[in-house]
Amino acid sequence: MEQYSIAIDGPAGSGKSSVSKEIAKILNIVYIDTGAMYRTVGLYCLRNHINLDNAEEIEKALQNIDMKITLSEGKQTIYLNGEDVTETIRTQQAGKAASDVAVIYAVREKLVQIQRELSKGHSVIMDGRDIGTNVLPHATVKIYLNASVEQRTNRRCHELMLLGKEYNKKRIEYEIIQRDENDKNRKYNPLKKAEDAIEIDNSNMDMEQTIKTILNIIKQKINV
Ligand code: CDP
Ligand code: CDP
Repeated sequence: MEQYSIAIDGPAGSGKSSVSKEIAKILNIVYIDTGAMYRTVGLYCLRNHINLDNAEEIEKALQNIDMKITLSEGKQTIYLNGEDVTETIRTQQAGKAASDVAVIYAVREKLVQIQRELSKGHSVIMDGRDIGTNVLPHATVKIYLNASVEQRTNRRCHELMLLGKEYNKKRIEYEIIQRDENDKNRKYNPLKKAEDAIEIDNSNMDMEQTIKTILNIIKQKINV
């Protein structure tokens, strides 16, 4: 079969990464998590006390970031200057810092180049904010995954509850709204549905239903 690519975009908590991982397993293709790359730049800036409102400082910092990504057996591992930060970047702060550095053109330029390189030579499913609009404009299938703020807040709270962590629901909701604002209104490659993407609102769907719906769309386009 010919190589194909699947782009999954949408706001935080819509289920992009969980769904993409599962679909990658089912179709036996590579999963690329682009959010992890913005998180890694965010983590570097947090650790080095870079002012996240200062584009110049961030651009300078970018020169000191060596990012390496390996893809094996469906798992993406990401290295920041030689250190495996795959788990370290999974914090709320790194997510917020990611969204802050993602407004800067030089950051996007560097990461998009890495993403396009990684997509070469095999079939992929890639998730992020600008995959269908910018990184893979010719993707075979484009999905825009959406869900209400209320549901996305509930999902995040549920995750924290399972981890046994304390949380404030109002605060989580506020952070989700802020992140949406930030991602939709930035100048370069904001979060938006590509014209040829199919939008799915999974507010009232569980994971299984969401995966089934997306697989059906893929199967209409590709003979998998
Ligand atoms: O990657 P993104 O931020 O879009 O979302 P995620 O991390 O994949 O999903 C956030 C949480 O929502 C996970 O705990 C999923 O299991 C859950 N989820 C759900 O409960 N129902 C769905 N239809 C999709 C995701
Ligand atoms: O898991 P969650 O949906 O919370 O976020 P993520 O996918 O890990 O992405 C973190 C942040 O990186 C997002 O809020 C975006 O600001 C940025 N990002 C981006 O600008 N472009 C992408 N292709 C992926 C992420």
